[in-house]
Amino acid sequence: MSMAAAPYCPPEWLALREGADAAARATALVAPLRAYLGDVGRAVIRDLGCGTGSMARWLAPLLPGPQHWIMHDRDPVLLAHAAASVVDGRAVTVATERRDITGLRGDDLAGTSLVTASALLDLLTAVEVDRLAAACAGIPALLTLSVAGEVELTPADPLDAEIHAAFNAHQRRVTGGRRLLGPDAPAVAAEAFERHGAVVREQASPWRLGADRSALTREWLSGWVDAACAERPDLAVPAEDYRRRRLEACAGGELRVVVQHRDLLALPAA
Ligand SMILES: C[S@@+](CC[C@H](N)C(=O)[O-])C[C@H]1O[C@@H](n2cnc3c(N)ncnc32)[C@H](O)[C@@H]1O
Repeated sequence: MSMAAAPYCPPEWLALREGADAAARATALVAPLRAYLGDVGRAVIRDLGCGTGSMARWLAPLLPGPQHWIMHDRDPVLLAHAAASVVDGRAVTVATERRDITGLRGDDLAGTSLVTASALLDLLTAVEVDRLAAACAGIPALLTLSVAGEVELTPADPLDAEIHAAFNAHQRRVTGGRRLLGPDAPAVAAEAFERHGAVVREQASPWRLGADRSALTREWLSGWVDAACAERPDLAVPAEDYRRRRLEACAGGELRVVVQHRDLLALPAA
Protein backbone atom coordinates (compact mmCIF):
# COMPACT_ATOMS: atom_id res chain seq x y z
CA MET A 1 0.00 0.00 0.00
CA SER A 2 1.37 3.44 -0.83
CA MET A 3 2.02 5.71 2.13
CA ALA A 4 0.27 9.05 1.48
CA ALA A 5 2.75 11.92 1.38
CA ALA A 6 2.66 14.27 4.38
CA PRO A 7 5.24 16.12 6.43
CA TYR A 8 7.77 14.05 8.41
CA CYS A 9 7.53 14.38 12.20
CA PRO A 10 10.87 13.87 13.98
CA PRO A 11 10.64 12.14 17.40
CA GLU A 12 12.58 15.05 18.95
CA TRP A 13 9.83 17.47 17.87
CA LEU A 14 7.13 15.18 19.28
CA ALA A 15 9.04 14.89 22.58
CA LEU A 16 9.41 18.67 22.77
CA ARG A 17 5.68 19.26 22.33
CA GLU A 18 4.35 16.40 24.49
CA GLY A 19 4.11 18.45 27.72
CA ALA A 20 2.34 21.36 26.02
CA ASP A 21 0.03 18.91 24.25
CA ALA A 22 -0.88 17.21 27.55
CA ALA A 23 -1.60 20.59 29.15
CA ALA A 24 -3.72 21.65 26.16
CA ARG A 25 -5.88 18.54 25.69
CA ALA A 26 -9.56 19.08 26.47
CA THR A 27 -10.09 16.99 29.61
CA ALA A 28 -13.80 17.99 29.56
CA LEU A 29 -14.31 15.49 26.73
CA VAL A 30 -13.04 12.54 28.79
CA ALA A 31 -16.08 12.25 31.10
CA PRO A 32 -18.62 11.85 28.25
CA LEU A 33 -16.25 9.39 26.58
CA ARG A 34 -15.96 7.32 29.76
CA ALA A 35 -19.75 7.40 30.17
CA TYR A 36 -20.22 6.20 26.58
CA LEU A 37 -17.65 3.41 26.89
CA GLY A 38 -19.19 2.18 30.16
CA ASP A 39 -17.90 -1.18 31.24
CA VAL A 40 -16.57 -2.66 27.99
CA GLY A 41 -14.21 -5.10 29.68
CA ARG A 42 -10.95 -4.85 27.76
CA ALA A 43 -11.19 -1.74 25.54
CA VAL A 44 -9.50 -2.00 22.14
CA ILE A 45 -8.25 1.47 21.21
CA ARG A 46 -6.71 2.35 17.86
CA ASP A 47 -4.54 5.49 17.82
CA LEU A 48 -4.16 6.74 14.24
CA GLY A 49 -0.96 8.60 13.34
CA CYS A 50 0.30 7.69 16.83
CA GLY A 51 3.80 9.13 16.52
CA THR A 52 5.70 8.06 19.64
CA GLY A 53 2.45 7.34 21.55
CA SER A 54 1.79 10.60 23.37
CA MET A 55 -2.01 10.21 23.13
CA ALA A 56 -1.89 6.83 24.87
CA ARG A 57 0.44 8.15 27.57
CA TRP A 58 -2.12 10.89 28.29
CA LEU A 59 -5.42 9.04 27.84
CA ALA A 60 -4.80 5.51 29.13
CA PRO A 61 -4.53 6.58 32.81
CA LEU A 62 -7.80 8.50 32.43
CA LEU A 63 -9.79 5.49 31.21
CA PRO A 64 -10.90 2.72 33.56
CA GLY A 65 -10.16 -0.96 33.15
CA PRO A 66 -7.86 -2.99 30.92
CA GLN A 67 -6.97 -1.55 27.55
CA HIS A 68 -5.30 -2.81 24.41
CA TRP A 69 -3.85 0.02 22.32
CA ILE A 70 -3.13 -0.60 18.65
CA MET A 71 -0.80 2.11 17.41
CA HIS A 72 -0.98 2.98 13.72
CA ASP A 73 1.60 5.06 11.91
CA ARG A 74 3.37 4.87 8.58
CA ASP A 75 6.73 5.75 10.18
CA PRO A 76 8.55 2.67 11.56
CA VAL A 77 10.91 4.75 13.70
CA LEU A 78 8.00 6.43 15.49
CA LEU A 79 6.23 3.08 15.87
CA ALA A 80 9.31 1.63 17.59
CA HIS A 81 9.15 4.49 20.13
CA ALA A 82 5.41 3.92 20.59
CA ALA A 83 5.89 0.19 21.18
CA ALA A 84 8.34 0.96 23.99
CA SER A 85 6.05 3.49 25.66
CA VAL A 86 3.73 1.30 27.71
CA VAL A 87 1.77 3.51 29.81
CA ASP A 88 1.26 3.31 33.54
CA GLY A 89 1.95 -0.20 34.74
CA ARG A 90 -1.72 -1.24 34.87
CA ALA A 91 -3.41 -3.65 32.50
CA VAL A 92 -2.48 -1.73 29.37
CA THR A 93 -1.01 -3.57 26.41
CA VAL A 94 0.34 -2.04 23.21
CA ALA A 95 0.69 -3.40 19.68
CA THR A 96 1.83 -1.55 16.57
CA GLU A 97 0.59 -1.75 12.99
CA ARG A 98 2.45 0.10 10.30
CA ARG A 99 -0.01 1.41 7.78
CA ASP A 100 -1.32 4.42 5.90
CA ILE A 101 -4.40 5.33 7.91
CA THR A 102 -6.01 7.04 4.91
CA GLY A 103 -6.76 3.53 3.58
CA LEU A 104 -8.70 2.37 6.67
CA ARG A 105 -12.15 0.92 6.04
CA GLY A 106 -14.93 -0.11 8.44
CA ASP A 107 -13.85 -3.77 8.30
CA ASP A 108 -10.36 -2.82 9.52
CA LEU A 109 -11.94 -1.38 12.66
CA ALA A 110 -14.10 -4.39 13.57
CA GLY A 111 -13.91 -5.00 17.33
CA THR A 112 -12.58 -1.51 18.04
CA SER A 113 -13.98 0.22 21.16
CA LEU A 114 -12.46 3.65 20.48
CA VAL A 115 -10.52 5.43 17.73
CA THR A 116 -8.17 8.24 18.70
CA ALA A 117 -5.98 10.66 16.77
CA SER A 118 -3.89 13.61 17.85
CA ALA A 119 -2.35 16.35 15.70
CA LEU A 120 -3.29 14.36 12.60
CA LEU A 121 -6.42 15.68 10.88
CA ASP A 122 -4.85 18.89 9.56
CA LEU A 123 -2.38 16.69 7.62
CA LEU A 124 -5.22 14.94 5.77
CA THR A 125 -7.48 15.97 2.89
CA ALA A 126 -11.26 16.47 3.04
CA VAL A 127 -11.80 13.20 1.13
CA GLU A 128 -9.52 11.29 3.53
CA VAL A 129 -11.32 12.70 6.59
CA ASP A 130 -14.67 11.79 5.08
CA ARG A 131 -13.44 8.22 4.45
CA LEU A 132 -12.18 8.04 8.03
CA ALA A 133 -15.53 9.26 9.38
CA ALA A 134 -17.29 6.58 7.29
CA ALA A 135 -14.90 3.88 8.59
CA CYS A 136 -15.57 5.01 12.18
CA ALA A 137 -19.39 4.92 11.85
CA GLY A 138 -20.75 3.32 15.04
CA ILE A 139 -17.41 3.70 16.91
CA PRO A 140 -16.55 6.59 19.27
CA ALA A 141 -13.65 8.78 18.16
CA LEU A 142 -11.55 11.28 20.11
CA LEU A 143 -9.75 13.55 17.61
CA THR A 144 -7.50 16.01 19.37
CA LEU A 145 -5.16 18.93 18.74
CA SER A 146 -6.14 19.77 15.17
CA VAL A 147 -4.76 23.19 14.27
CA ALA A 148 -7.44 25.85 14.20
CA GLY A 149 -5.52 28.57 12.34
CA GLU A 150 -5.56 31.15 15.13
CA VAL A 151 -2.32 32.34 16.72
CA GLU A 152 -1.86 35.22 19.14
CA LEU A 153 1.62 36.60 19.90
CA THR A 154 2.28 39.04 22.74
CA PRO A 155 3.75 41.62 22.41
CA ALA A 156 2.37 42.23 18.92
CA ASP A 157 4.65 42.85 15.92
CA PRO A 158 3.70 44.61 12.65
CA LEU A 159 4.64 41.50 10.61
CA ASP A 160 2.54 39.03 12.67
CA ALA A 161 -0.53 39.15 10.41
CA GLU A 162 1.39 38.61 7.16
CA ILE A 163 3.44 35.70 8.55
CA HIS A 164 0.28 34.21 10.02
CA ALA A 165 -1.65 34.40 6.73
CA ALA A 166 1.27 32.87 4.79
CA PHE A 167 1.61 30.08 7.37
CA ASN A 168 -2.09 29.22 7.15
CA ALA A 169 -1.89 29.16 3.35
CA HIS A 170 1.07 26.79 3.64
CA GLN A 171 -0.95 24.51 5.95
CA ARG A 172 -3.56 24.29 3.18
CA ARG A 173 -0.99 23.57 0.45
CA VAL A 174 -1.18 20.90 -2.22
CA THR A 175 1.50 18.25 -1.70
CA GLY A 176 1.82 15.02 -3.67
CA GLY A 177 -1.47 15.90 -5.39
CA ARG A 178 -3.27 16.18 -2.03
CA ARG A 179 -4.69 19.43 -0.65
CA LEU A 180 -4.08 19.39 3.10
CA LEU A 181 -6.89 20.64 5.33
CA GLY A 182 -4.67 22.66 7.68
CA PRO A 183 -6.86 24.94 9.79
CA ASP A 184 -10.04 23.75 8.04
CA ALA A 185 -9.64 20.32 9.66
CA PRO A 186 -11.82 20.82 12.78
CA ALA A 187 -14.87 22.09 10.85
CA VAL A 188 -14.50 19.56 8.02
CA ALA A 189 -14.09 16.68 10.48
CA ALA A 190 -17.07 17.75 12.63
CA GLU A 191 -19.27 17.93 9.56
CA ALA A 192 -18.04 14.58 8.19
CA PHE A 193 -18.51 12.67 11.47
CA GLU A 194 -22.00 14.16 11.89
CA ARG A 195 -22.89 13.15 8.34
CA HIS A 196 -21.81 9.60 9.17
CA GLY A 197 -24.09 9.41 12.20
CA ALA A 198 -22.10 10.81 15.13
CA VAL A 199 -22.93 13.51 17.65
CA VAL A 200 -19.86 15.74 17.85
CA ARG A 201 -18.72 17.77 20.87
CA GLU A 202 -15.94 20.29 20.37
CA GLN A 203 -13.56 22.02 22.80
CA ALA A 204 -10.67 24.43 22.35
CA SER A 205 -7.26 22.98 23.25
CA PRO A 206 -4.77 25.84 22.93
CA TRP A 207 -1.05 25.69 23.49
CA ARG A 208 -0.11 28.49 25.90
CA LEU A 209 3.59 29.07 25.37
CA GLY A 210 5.63 31.39 27.56
CA ALA A 211 8.96 31.54 29.36
CA ASP A 212 8.32 28.11 30.92
CA ARG A 213 8.25 26.48 27.46
CA SER A 214 10.91 28.54 25.71
CA ALA A 215 12.52 25.58 23.86
CA LEU A 216 9.19 24.63 22.30
CA THR A 217 8.35 28.28 21.59
CA ARG A 218 11.69 28.69 19.76
CA GLU A 219 11.19 25.57 17.64
CA TRP A 220 7.56 26.38 16.89
CA LEU A 221 8.45 29.97 15.95
CA SER A 222 11.21 28.89 13.56
CA GLY A 223 8.92 26.34 11.90
CA TRP A 224 6.18 28.97 11.67
CA VAL A 225 8.45 31.48 9.93
CA ASP A 226 10.02 28.80 7.66
CA ALA A 227 6.59 27.63 6.51
CA ALA A 228 5.45 31.21 5.87
CA CYS A 229 8.57 31.83 3.73
CA ALA A 230 8.09 28.55 1.84
CA GLU A 231 4.64 29.84 0.91
CA ARG A 232 5.73 33.45 0.29
CA PRO A 233 9.43 33.57 -0.77
CA ASP A 234 9.10 37.35 -1.09
CA LEU A 235 8.83 37.50 2.72
CA ALA A 236 12.32 36.00 3.21
CA VAL A 237 14.18 39.24 4.00
CA PRO A 238 11.65 40.88 6.37
CA ALA A 239 10.97 37.47 7.91
CA GLU A 240 14.64 37.06 8.94
CA ASP A 241 14.44 40.35 10.90
CA TYR A 242 11.14 39.21 12.33
CA ARG A 243 12.61 35.87 13.39
CA ARG A 244 15.54 37.63 15.09
CA ARG A 245 13.22 40.04 16.97
CA ARG A 246 10.96 37.21 18.05
CA LEU A 247 13.80 34.89 19.15
CA GLU A 248 15.35 37.73 21.17
CA ALA A 249 12.01 38.32 22.90
CA CYS A 250 11.76 34.58 23.53
CA ALA A 251 15.29 34.43 25.00
CA GLY A 252 14.41 37.40 27.22
CA GLY A 253 11.30 35.62 28.53
CA GLU A 254 9.04 38.32 27.05
CA LEU A 255 7.27 36.40 24.29
CA ARG A 256 3.94 34.67 24.89
CA VAL A 257 2.15 32.70 22.19
CA VAL A 258 -1.30 31.12 22.12
CA VAL A 259 -1.69 28.55 19.33
CA GLN A 260 -5.30 27.46 18.98
CA HIS A 261 -6.31 23.84 18.39
CA ARG A 262 -9.62 22.00 18.61
CA ASP A 263 -10.45 18.63 20.17
CA LEU A 264 -13.47 16.71 18.86
CA LEU A 265 -15.35 13.87 20.52
CA ALA A 266 -17.58 12.03 18.04
CA LEU A 267 -20.03 9.60 19.69
CA PRO A 268 -22.41 7.41 17.68
CA ALA A 269 -25.92 8.82 17.93
CA ALA A 270 -28.18 6.79 20.25
C1 LIG B 1 2.07 15.72 14.14
S1 LIG B 1 2.42 14.02 14.28
C2 LIG B 1 1.44 13.61 15.72
C3 LIG B 1 1.89 12.35 16.39
C4 LIG B 1 1.12 11.95 17.65
N1 LIG B 1 -0.27 11.65 17.33
C5 LIG B 1 1.20 13.01 18.71
O1 LIG B 1 0.18 13.64 19.02
O2 LIG B 1 2.31 13.22 19.24
C6 LIG B 1 1.49 13.27 12.98
C7 LIG B 1 1.70 11.77 12.91
O3 LIG B 1 0.82 11.23 11.94
C8 LIG B 1 1.54 10.31 11.13
N2 LIG B 1 0.85 10.28 9.83
C9 LIG B 1 0.57 11.33 9.03
N3 LIG B 1 -0.12 10.93 7.95
C10 LIG B 1 -0.27 9.57 8.08
C11 LIG B 1 -0.88 8.57 7.28
N4 LIG B 1 -1.48 8.89 6.13
N5 LIG B 1 -0.86 7.29 7.71
C12 LIG B 1 -0.25 6.96 8.88
N6 LIG B 1 0.35 7.88 9.68
C13 LIG B 1 0.34 9.16 9.28
C14 LIG B 1 2.96 10.86 11.08
O4 LIG B 1 3.91 9.87 10.75
C15 LIG B 1 3.11 11.37 12.50
O5 LIG B 1 3.54 10.36 13.38
